[in-house]
Amino acid sequence: MAKILVTGGCGYIGSHTIVDLVEHGYECVSVDNYLNSDPSVLEQIASITGKKVKNYPVDLVNKEALKEVFKQEDIYAIIHFAALKAVGESVEKPLLYYRNNIEGQINLLECALQNNIYHFIFSSSCTVYGQSDHLPVTEETPIAKAESPYGYTKQVCERIIEDSIRNKEMNACLLRYFNPAGAHDSLQLGESPINPPMNLIPVITEVGIGSRPELKVFGSDYETRDGSCVRDYIHVMDLANAHTKSLQYLESKNVDFGDAEVFNLGTGEGTTVLEAINSWEEVSGEKLNYSIVDRREGDIPAIFADYSKAKESLGWDPKRGIGDIMKTAWGWEKIRRENIVK
Ligand code: UD1
Repeated sequence: MAKILVTGGCGYIGSHTIVDLVEHGYECVSVDNYLNSDPSVLEQIASITGKKVKNYPVDLVNKEALKEVFKQEDIYAIIHFAALKAVGESVEKPLLYYRNNIEGQINLLECALQNNIYHFIFSSSCTVYGQSDHLPVTEETPIAKAESPYGYTKQVCERIIEDSIRNKEMNACLLRYFNPAGAHDSLQLGESPINPPMNLIPVITEVGIGSRPELKVFGSDYETRDGSCVRDYIHVMDLANAHTKSLQYLESKNVDFGDAEVFNLGTGEGTTVLEAINSWEEVSGEKLNYSIVDRREGDIPAIFADYSKAKESLGWDPKRGIGDIMKTAWGWEKIRRENIVK
């Protein structure tokens, strides 16, 4: 059976997507250099699905090693997650981000075009929209000038895919994620970054468990319902399932070869930072230690998705809300902490 190549398959969204793909009967193989992930994720995937997935510890920038993977494996579709994703680090080290995210993807596309890969799914971000005047944002919302090198790599990588598959026997989906969070319902899999997380929900759970002293709420003077920023948090398993649905959509030839289709993946519900804290307090029954500090540079006041295109075309509808996200994120954090203490 031909396989799906998942790049970054040991990372947060990649690993959850492999679980969803395997549960829908797909065979997967991963390429992940473990820069911000750990091989033990493969055991967690096996324990949930009962299937072992092989990972090649290859960096996409190493084209010769990547070519070998395509020689070894019979691949017909690619889901591409592997990338650096820390906004602040990208400002400090732009060339690292450009080389890793852009050159890595060029190598991958060259291998894909040489090896008759029919379908390509790309992990993009709502960061491409910047702050829009109109909310919720649709796929028609104009792309804004990127705030960071990281954001620019997402814009460029989308464009590179569109340009390089034109007139080729390949179709693509460009998936613009809103704010992914939460863990697998079994609590055997969740976010396990090597670098300290900067995103709101893992920071909340780390403060809750005591591995960080407090949460700094970046700004309470935004023009939002409680003064803190609004984001659209999407449960990682809902997001994972959107990849399976996108693959089925590409396979059913709903997208002509040569075309790339964009989808927003969010819930359509905005949550403020203070509401997210409140949700954690409800789920845990505890009080979170937090303080209000200045705004974080580069933060936009509010964004949430219009996902009606994904609903209509992919038949995708997120099933979980902020409460489910917090419940699984918190459950996962507690288990991780127990394992670290052991
Ligand atoms: C960030 C990235 C975005 C990336 C996304 C991936 C920035 C500017 N943007 O989005 O490009 O695609 O992650 O998930 O980094 N917050 C606090 N205290 C904290 C952490 C966050 O108050 O310690 C607030 C932020 O101000 C923001 C909200 O929580 O309003 C969400 O922040 P975060 O999880 O970092 O995501 P984004 O900034 O939306």
